[in-house]
Amino acid sequence: VSTAPATKAVAGQGSKGPRHVAIIMDGNGRWAKRRHLPRIAGHRKGIEAARTVVRAAGELGIEVLTLYAFSSENWRRPADEVSDLMGLLRRFIVTDIDELSESGVRLRIIGNYRALAPDIVQLIDNACAKTAQNSRTTLVIALNYGSHAELAGVARSLAERARDGLLDPAVIDEDMIAGELDTGDLPPPDLLIRTSGEKRLSNFLLWQLAYSEFLFVDTLWPDFGANDLAAACEQFSARERRFGGL
Ligand code: IPE
Ligand code: IPE
Ligand code: MG
Repeated sequence: VSTAPATKAVAGQGSKGPRHVAIIMDGNGRWAKRRHLPRIAGHRKGIEAARTVVRAAGELGIEVLTLYAFSSENWRRPADEVSDLMGLLRRFIVTDIDELSESGVRLRIIGNYRALAPDIVQLIDNACAKTAQNSRTTLVIALNYGSHAELAGVARSLAERARDGLLDPAVIDEDMIAGELDTGDLPPPDLLIRTSGEKRLSNFLLWQLAYSEFLFVDTLWPDFGANDLAAACEQFSARERRFGGL
């Protein structure tokens, strides 16, 4: 599969490009509906878009790309759609991991992926282990991820340690909480993109997005390409971030 290289390498140039881009990949269903196709056709096309965007992120010098693939609320969808999504996830890991690894991608998962089918958990653990030493791009896939569940997990684990006498509650600070999140060792997203025109977070990275720049685009995820990512990075570069200062 060959694609044109992503336009200008904005992100890698100077210090103004985003190091970490997080994307809420939304609009697969509407993409399919417009074509009178079943929703799974939109999800299939959405995986192609994800593939393209991962490649483009590497070319743009983005260090971390986080993709929201399945939320802890997506179990509310009809069982056949959930099972289609899991099938596509399986296939993606099997077919893409070698190429990802060869292009220097390190795979990380956030979310409670251990609650997925045992064979998927195994595939994921193998894929993460296989790519653990890569350092060009970190691809973080959010699977069965929900920010509220993640934060509740942090609270539970700190409380257990305090109960067992291993942690003095007085030392719990913002850095400790950030470090206990699934994203513990990753920088927070500089830029959040949501496709398909929806303007909400849907329980995604609530803590981590505290000072991120937000970009909501109308493009449906299956239509999102390398040029859209490059354009998003350019828009990001034009923003002024203040972090509460002047
Ligand atoms: C995003 O597309 C993919 C997942 C949430 C898994 P949707 O399936 O949400 O597409 P729309 O929002 O129905 O168009
Ligand atoms: C958010 O999209 C989750 C993912 C993209 C995986 P949804 O389509 O599930 O979000 P809502 O239901 O419109 O808020
Ligand atoms: Mg949606």
